[in-house]
Amino acid sequence: MASYIGTPTSRIDGHAKVTGGAKYAAEFNVPDLAHASIVSSTIAKGSIARIDTSEAMRVEGVIDVLTHQNRPPMAPADSAYRDDVGPEDGSPFRPLYDDKIMFSRQPIALVVAEEPEIARFAASLVRVDYNEAEHLTDLFRRGNKIVTLKAPAPPRGNAGKAYAASDVRHEAEYVIPIEHHNPMELFASTAIWEDGKLTVYDKTQGVQNVQRYLCNVFAMKPNEVRVVSLFVGGAFGAGLRPQYEAALVVLAARALRRSVRLVLTRQQMYGLSYRPATIERLALGAKPAGTLNAVTHEAIAMTSMHEDYARDDTAWSGRLYKSASAAYSHKLAKLDVPTPGDMRAPGAATGVYALECAMDELAVALKLDPLELRYRVYSDRDQNNDVPFTSKQLRECYRRGAEAFGWNKRNPEPRAMRDGSELVGWGIATGIWDALQMKFTVRIALTANGHAEVACGTSDIGTGTYTIMAQVTADMLGLPLDSVTVKLGDSTLPQSQVEGGSWTAASVSHAIAAAADKIKKELLRLAKKVPDSPLRSVKTEEVTLVDGKLVGNRDARHFVSIADAMRSGAVDRVEMESSSDFKDDSSHARNTHSAIFAEVKVDEELGVIRVTRVVNAVAAGRILNPKTASSQIMGSVVWGIGMALHEETLIDQAFGRIMNANFAEYHVPVNADVQDIKVIFVEEPDEIINPLGIKGVGEIGIVGVAAAIANAVYHATGKRVRDLPITLDKLMR
Ligand code: MOS
Repeated sequence: MASYIGTPTSRIDGHAKVTGGAKYAAEFNVPDLAHASIVSSTIAKGSIARIDTSEAMRVEGVIDVLTHQNRPPMAPADSAYRDDVGPEDGSPFRPLYDDKIMFSRQPIALVVAEEPEIARFAASLVRVDYNEAEHLTDLFRRGNKIVTLKAPAPPRGNAGKAYAASDVRHEAEYVIPIEHHNPMELFASTAIWEDGKLTVYDKTQGVQNVQRYLCNVFAMKPNEVRVVSLFVGGAFGAGLRPQYEAALVVLAARALRRSVRLVLTRQQMYGLSYRPATIERLALGAKPAGTLNAVTHEAIAMTSMHEDYARDDTAWSGRLYKSASAAYSHKLAKLDVPTPGDMRAPGAATGVYALECAMDELAVALKLDPLELRYRVYSDRDQNNDVPFTSKQLRECYRRGAEAFGWNKRNPEPRAMRDGSELVGWGIATGIWDALQMKFTVRIALTANGHAEVACGTSDIGTGTYTIMAQVTADMLGLPLDSVTVKLGDSTLPQSQVEGGSWTAASVSHAIAAAADKIKKELLRLAKKVPDSPLRSVKTEEVTLVDGKLVGNRDARHFVSIADAMRSGAVDRVEMESSSDFKDDSSHARNTHSAIFAEVKVDEELGVIRVTRVVNAVAAGRILNPKTASSQIMGSVVWGIGMALHEETLIDQAFGRIMNANFAEYHVPVNADVQDIKVIFVEEPDEIINPLGIKGVGEIGIVGVAAAIANAVYHATGKRVRDLPITLDKLMR
């Protein structure tokens, strides 16, 4: 049987995307569409004393200016603003709710006009007087209000004592600055008003999450608001929670009883989600032979005053490296900032960066090859929960990666390898991410002409979900790929979770398999009714759908075509809905793994760093589509280069305001920064995790990349820079 699963397959939505046929949230037009523009706070904390909209209102073409004083009603209860992804502790931000200012760039007024330019101009005429209060925005300030969270995993042994008793010790502090997602597509929402009902085209990773949120906030019934997000121009976690553009267009549409669009500016994109700046403290104690006695990992990350956002930064070593003792702790500094959010591999991207740099430093202290150290402390068990893994081909990642990179040719001495005026450095790091899976529901409709439509409320945030849904459906129903149509990104479709956490591939594929199985059962029931049916006495598991036919497994001459089966039942379509159902228990750890090898060249005089080669060898179970999966890893490696060398959101502490809220001063890697990236997928059969052995790829690609580059920079220069990004001034001083 031809299999699309595992075959490199071009995106089925690729043509629409590159020809402009794919419509994004800000591209849905209706006659009489009004355009909104946000006025945002210039202070970080306080309240609005007076807001004067009269000058803005006088501009020709301005329809209204909404503020907390004249907006339509919004729910008063905290619970109405909660969503599937937000932190459990705290009170979510409510746009235009009251006069309180909680962070710089908070939206405080919405100008609605006939044209976007008019709205934006008029927004500049809104005058605001503030009662300013003293703000706290500096993670590094002494005396911040600190919240200690429950440790992500229990301690093992007495790490403090074991560390003190270790022969070889390494202790250091690593710092990751605030980073922003910076997706190409700006956050945008178009609310189409139709007799009191709304269709909201929103940039989001979860249409049903946004729909529930809007229903709660505005006391609307589910049939009164539909949320659609067919294509997403990058989100990386920024679109997991309902962002304020959706609430604001609904507010305006309800106030004006009219369709409204809002597109954020690039500067305003710095007033929402971001990766929190984090201080990571690592202490590793070892024996001279290269075994670990103690791992202590403490993270202090920033969060907002109103919500406690945290992800696991610290417990990853318990799944990677055998250590007799370990202790983890996670603390939050409460600041006058928007709540941080998930950004590609939240927690791991930061925590594993620190862990993997610390491991490199320990290897130097032990005079051991850093790859050899990782082999010596390799753990086949998750020590945090004392369970095995469903699968863990990390050794194979090390082996295949090292071979592809040529690691055995490395001179261990720093500054020993050169290329002309440049110092050459080689570094490695390990990556790890969770292999999560969620309950997703899928509906498949198969028609007598052999065409299937598969539908699910999930999103495709650019990861290739449209394509893998088509691949899995085609395989399960024995149809050619182009006989499958995929529908997603619409709140009216069967319920699913947000697309995030790298869980969508496994979750949606198993729902498809379950729905396809129901279809097969129903077709067999109908096929048995065909006169002299050759499938009269076979069971469901004894037939397969191939080439538009239900075929007996034992004898391929025994078949009934889909068309004949449907004809016999006098139906022209069979439609089934089913959910993925995972038996996730605590008997196993479920993770993806990777080994990253990086080469840098550093100009000895100028400190300019170039990342000339990266090999990322990934073990992530069954790879559904090697083409889109390697694109995921490649994109993540590029982001890892940005994290290591370029990205940093800077706050002017005097104003509590981000200074570089633009692409000129927030640096991301450009083509010239990206050279040779090689992605390897290591075979990883996994019969425990789920029937199809899928783990999901995406986030795993970034974890460890910045560490491999930082370690390569040390190897090239002999200089250890622990606070990201590694800019040339830090190398030169
Ligand atoms: Mo991802 S940070 O779960 O979109």
